[in-house]
Amino acid sequence: MNCWFLISYTGSAWMVLSRPFIDYTIWGWDNLPRTTLMYYSNFISSPEGYFHTVICNALEFRNTTVNSDLHFIAWDNPPKQHPHHLTIADMDKMVESNAPFARKFRQDDPVLDRVDSELLSRGPGMFTPGGWCIGSRGENGTDPCSIIGNTTVVRPGPGAKRLETLIGSLLSTENFRPRQCK
Ligand SMILES: *[C@@H]1O[C@H](CO)[C@@H](O)[C@H](O)[C@H]1NC(C)=O
Ligand SMILES: *[C@@H]1O[C@H](CO)[C@@H](O)[C@H](O)[C@H]1NC(C)=O
Ligand SMILES: *[C@@H]1O[C@H](CO)[C@@H](O)[C@H](O)[C@H]1NC(C)=O
Repeated sequence: MNCWFLISYTGSAWMVLSRPFIDYTIWGWDNLPRTTLMYYSNFISSPEGYFHTVICNALEFRNTTVNSDLHFIAWDNPPKQHPHHLTIADMDKMVESNAPFARKFRQDDPVLDRVDSELLSRGPGMFTPGGWCIGSRGENGTDPCSIIGNTTVVRPGPGAKRLETLIGSLLSTENFRPRQCK
């Protein structure tokens, strides 16, 4: 008889999965992804545990994990069941976290307008301008993206710099290996 032993892991429901890992979970040359699926099909909030448990128990993938969901989330003190809705008061901390994603927001909260205007340079009802937008910039409320240039041009802004800082920190000696599957 085969004995099967698994350590379960939980974490965020937001994640980035690599192509080789997805192949591993789908192609099924190993029993682990399937057996874990049976266990998690009757589990509360399975997205917060299934992939974490599979990847941390698969020796060939465990070392590829990075312990971050790239989100800025703020909790009340003392913490309630859900994180608090972010407002203008959280703006500075949110930007300083260097995280590319954040939650939760109330619909149409003013902080979202500040994100649009200060972080994304995005006018009302317009796209977030990128290197492909070559129209004149907004003086008369015009959309720079109304004229389309070379769509493959990527022009990193300050947000890309912040993301670089975050990734550098996540992959640093003190954060990367010690925090894997913890
Ligand atoms: C994973 O990393 C650990 C520690 O760095 C190392 O001992 C182990 O051989 C690695 N495993 C694989 C499958 O690469
Ligand atoms: C803005 O509007 C004025 C008056 O209609 C026009 O002369 C000017 O060229 C416009 N500027 C841009 C950038 O479209
Ligand atoms: C578009 O931009 C890419 C990347 O910068 C460049 O390699 C390519 O030559 C450009 N194409 C045209 C038509 O300018």
